[in-house]
Amino acid sequence: MKFAFAGLLTLAASALAFPTRGDHGSHGGQTLPWDDKSVYEKHTIKAKGIEASFMEYGAVITNLWVNDKHGVKRDIILGWDDTTQYNVNPQHPYFGALVGRYANRIKNGTFEVDGTKYYTPINEHGVDTLHGGLTGTDRRNWTITDKGEDYVVFEMFSEAGDQGFPGNLLTKVKYSVNDNAQWTIEYDGTPDADTPILMSQHTYWRLDAFTSSDATVKDHVMQIKADKFIKCDEYEVPTGEISTVKGTPLDFTEPKAIGKDLLKAQECGTNCTGYDNAWVITDPNPKEKTLVVYSPVTGIELSINTDQVAYQFYSCVTMDGTIPIKKTQLDNGAKHKMVEQYGCFVLEAENYIDGINNPQWGEQYTGLVKAGDKYTQKTTYTFGIHK
Ligand SMILES: *[C@@H]1O[C@H](CO)[C@@H](O)[C@H](O)[C@H]1NC(C)=O
Ligand SMILES: *[C@@H]1O[C@H](CO)[C@@H](O)[C@H](O)[C@H]1NC(C)=O
Ligand SMILES: *[C@@H]1O[C@H](CO)[C@@H](O)[C@H](O)[C@H]1NC(C)=O
Repeated sequence: MKFAFAGLLTLAASALAFPTRGDHGSHGGQTLPWDDKSVYEKHTIKAKGIEASFMEYGAVITNLWVNDKHGVKRDIILGWDDTTQYNVNPQHPYFGALVGRYANRIKNGTFEVDGTKYYTPINEHGVDTLHGGLTGTDRRNWTITDKGEDYVVFEMFSEAGDQGFPGNLLTKVKYSVNDNAQWTIEYDGTPDADTPILMSQHTYWRLDAFTSSDATVKDHVMQIKADKFIKCDEYEVPTGEISTVKGTPLDFTEPKAIGKDLLKAQECGTNCTGYDNAWVITDPNPKEKTLVVYSPVTGIELSINTDQVAYQFYSCVTMDGTIPIKKTQLDNGAKHKMVEQYGCFVLEAENYIDGINNPQWGEQYTGLVKAGDKYTQKTTYTFGIHK
């Protein structure tokens, strides 16, 4: 067995490669300086009943406006008012970011491809790699390569050895909105060596825009068409086992309030109460809405269609009242000032987490993309009013 110490070389290699943000995109292909502030500028796209803003830093979505049941426009996602905070704030909750090249956790920061072991930076509890390493795609400066009234395309080049991963990878993500109040995310990336890829979008939702008297999302009602979940250990690293949700607090097969079993849910790591798990979709089918959630206060309903096979649902267990609510919400009827525990949630459409270390689940779940093959994902969020 060969050993590749790519992880150790990463810092040196990436420091040289990062400043050429424009190499693979617009800006005339020129090298951009490190102090380029344009990465924090908001770029807005819109269609009937929906408007969204993004920035190049992290390919982050900063604002998402849809109408509530009274026709009032509401910004229903979390983030920082000052967009430089997405980079510099020591609390880095991955607000609205594109997470990858391999999101969620990699056991021991180690995996094997074609008989070679690769090492990715251990950045959580000293036992795993979370969200692609120290400088995952969420901390990179993407480049806008195309934009219209209702869409924007970002590109990012991750060189071979970046965060220890094999193969150069040019990644694209297209965010678009349409007159059916849908937000669609399309990813594609072609590596030049075999590498695991698992990308996702890490938006924090609050479908009542904090206008409920409840500081939490316990009243939001959700259904996930998933009959199984991926068992994890005390560090939230998959054990290899896939379990039924039946008879557990993780059963969302019928619509139920997030708060109903929230305090009984304890599969989210040591001393953790709440949800932070990967649900396995029973019948994956991009034509079906396999997840639906709404706020009874604003009536705003979000449903998801995806070609992925799992959803990570995180109920903001570690929020603790130290991050302020955005001005777009404070000035628009928010009843709270800070984001409290359980005051939001994240839904990530993705492949089976840590599938690269669990080949027994099946080859299609490893996330391994062969040299020259294309990684793609299409996920659509549809907004409406719950009937
Ligand atoms: C992204 O751009 C910001 C602003 O220029 C800079 O401070 C940061 O170091 C860049 N990040 C990376 C990973 O290149
Ligand atoms: C865990 O990672 C360390 C290096 O970080 C490595 O030496 C060890 O072989 C890995 N263990 C397994 C089981 O892969
Ligand atoms: C978990 O909670 C117990 C009891 O409060 C405590 O003794 C222990 O240190 C906690 N473990 C961690 C990892 O926080």
